[in-house]
Amino acid sequence: MYEISEIVAEKWKTAVDNRNCQIIGLTGAGISAESGIPTFRGADGYWKIGSMNFTPIEIATLERFRDYPWEVWHWYLTRIYQHRRAQPNDGHQALVELEKLLDERFRLITQNVDGLHLKAGNSAEKVYEIHGNLNYMRIFDSSRPNLLPMPNLVEELDPNEPLPEEVKSKLRDEAGNLMRPHVLWFDEMYSEELYRSESALKAAQEADLLLTIGTTGATSLPALILKTVVHHGGIVIDINPEATWFSDYLMISGGYHLKGPSGVFLPKLMELVE
Ligand code: APR
Repeated sequence: MYEISEIVAEKWKTAVDNRNCQIIGLTGAGISAESGIPTFRGADGYWKIGSMNFTPIEIATLERFRDYPWEVWHWYLTRIYQHRRAQPNDGHQALVELEKLLDERFRLITQNVDGLHLKAGNSAEKVYEIHGNLNYMRIFDSSRPNLLPMPNLVEELDPNEPLPEEVKSKLRDEAGNLMRPHVLWFDEMYSEELYRSESALKAAQEADLLLTIGTTGATSLPALILKTVVHHGGIVIDINPEATWFSDYLMISGGYHLKGPSGVFLPKLMELVE
């Protein structure tokens, strides 16, 4: 069960051993599933559980926050509470070892906002959090927003009760500006300044091998990253217990699919090169 074929092992070892090879990871919610954090589109996924009045896809927008900031905050604070209790798993740790092994030849692009890659020990300059990080917040209507740490206000909130006043007071800066979660919303654009999106695409353009881990590839930049690496002849290995359009695309473009959990396959890949 969960074996790595000889051809994948050979491609992997050759790329890791070749000092001219750039290797990048692209992670999605699946890598955090074994840490107890729900995915987005899985059975218990975040896009299945909305707030009192809105569906998830409706609530994760700038438009909704402008009109109902406290309801949007309420939904995010519940997620932050889950994140704060989660620990990195063997998959996260394997990517820390990979960074230590490859150093400048490695970059990690993540769609996850749980902060678990940094918590595991990957370095901030090599991790591109292209959808943000819920450990930070920023001024809502500022053109040059600076990130502030999310205050330690988070306790389990009653989903059926409005946000308590003492919690609301901590979601403003010292000048009284309303803060927002540092995440990319569905009606917003990627940006280098906030989400390192241009750096992520540059890393894809230079990558000789891409590991896609725990993602359905449902958003635009991850899909472009995959196609960019395939287009210039890079090797792509997808790790996911399920088949997705990523794994289907790789079947026709010569990539590889390791069908199983990242907490098993990533440590196995590291065993091959340590
Ligand atoms: N190991 C690897 N993959 C797993 C595991 C696991 N243990 N458990 C589940 N998965 C896979 C699922 O099979 C699924 O394909 O993780 C994937 C999670 O997919 P999504 O829930 O769609 O999450 P993700 O791909 O990260 O979503 C991308 O969409 O809505 C936006 O901003 C949101 O960042 C998110 C983006």
